[in-house]
Amino acid sequence: MSFKTALIGFGAVAAGFASDPRNAKHYECATHAQALKSHRAFNWEAVVDLSAEARETARRDWGIKHVYGSIGEMTRHYQPEIAVIATPPGHRMEMVDALPELKALMVEKPLGISLSEGRRFAELCERRGILAQVNLWRRADEFCRGLASGKLEELVGKPQAVFVLYGNGLLNNGAHLLDFVRMLFGEVQEVESASLVPILALVIPGDVHCRFTLVMQSGLAVHFQPLDFAHYRENAVEIWGTKGRLSIVQEGLLNLCCKLAPHRALSGEREIALDSGVLSIPPTAGYAFHRIYDNLAGALGGGAPLWSPVSNALATEEVLHEVLKKSRAVKD
Ligand SMILES: NC(=O)c1ccc[n+]([C@@H]2O[C@H](COP(=O)([O-])OP(=O)(O)OC[C@H]3O[C@@H](n4cnc5c(N)ncnc54)[C@H](O)[C@@H]3O)[C@@H](O)[C@H]2O)c1
Repeated sequence: MSFKTALIGFGAVAAGFASDPRNAKHYECATHAQALKSHRAFNWEAVVDLSAEARETARRDWGIKHVYGSIGEMTRHYQPEIAVIATPPGHRMEMVDALPELKALMVEKPLGISLSEGRRFAELCERRGILAQVNLWRRADEFCRGLASGKLEELVGKPQAVFVLYGNGLLNNGAHLLDFVRMLFGEVQEVESASLVPILALVIPGDVHCRFTLVMQSGLAVHFQPLDFAHYRENAVEIWGTKGRLSIVQEGLLNLCCKLAPHRALSGEREIALDSGVLSIPPTAGYAFHRIYDNLAGALGGGAPLWSPVSNALATEEVLHEVLKKSRAVKD
């Protein structure tokens, strides 16, 4: 079975990253266009983008015949069963409203700029019975899924302290990292503290950077710190467990695990051996995009549960907005 598919928004994550040769060295698939082209369940025939240049790229480089400047224009000629929404947030609800034949969606995070926008979007998908997968790709990454189902404890024992770095905005990249924290450590009990950080490198209008601490239901504290991507990029999670440390750095392309050893300077004590016997675990991030589409196809075909449903993304955004609320209260 192959479903009529349209890609709405044809920018960086839709297709642009695929033309970066450095990206291609590390990611077998880093864009919606690559995933759709190689997936038999999705008959990708249409692109909608406001930009004439993006539309020309879709036609010329990807051989897409049905290329439109608006959804209204598309639906006069083409009715997709699957839509991939890869625009910045805003108007996601109107887009779904304009597509009456939709069976499933792949949508980029965040669901909305405001929490109410995200909630209304989730309610709409639920009401229409649309299978909605959110591209929080770590939910589909083999290594990340393994960690969440026992491998993390095997590697480092019980987590004692967790530090997270992100940049380019709380709603933009913070969403990925906060969702990953929920995936590994369970639900958030409270946002213990949060404050705004004046970093200006932002890709979503209205987004901010916050430094904050979450207390998980298990009692574990997780500390988030933004970095200014004007200097360099990093989205990282560092976990200090009872018997080792795991560093998931270089945006998931380098996973380093350090184990316990006798303390180098104190008899009878132990340390984490950061400088010897470091285990480098091969990344699987380069395949996650493809796998998140595999899972959507499985859900469409045989009722497999979605790995990254809209309800989960909304739960992450609920926490993000709690962080925002708390950080603004501190500023005022
Ligand atoms: N999941 C991930 O790993 C990942 C990575 C990068 C970006 N993103 C998310 O994807 C979204 C897009 O990011 P990007 O970096 O590709 O942005 P981008 O600016 O490169 O591309 C967005 C495209 O959407 C088009 N567009 C905007 N509004 C539109 C509308 N109403 N109708 C049709 N086309 C419209 C623009 O013309 C542009 O071509 C953001 O929400 C971002 O957070 C996710």
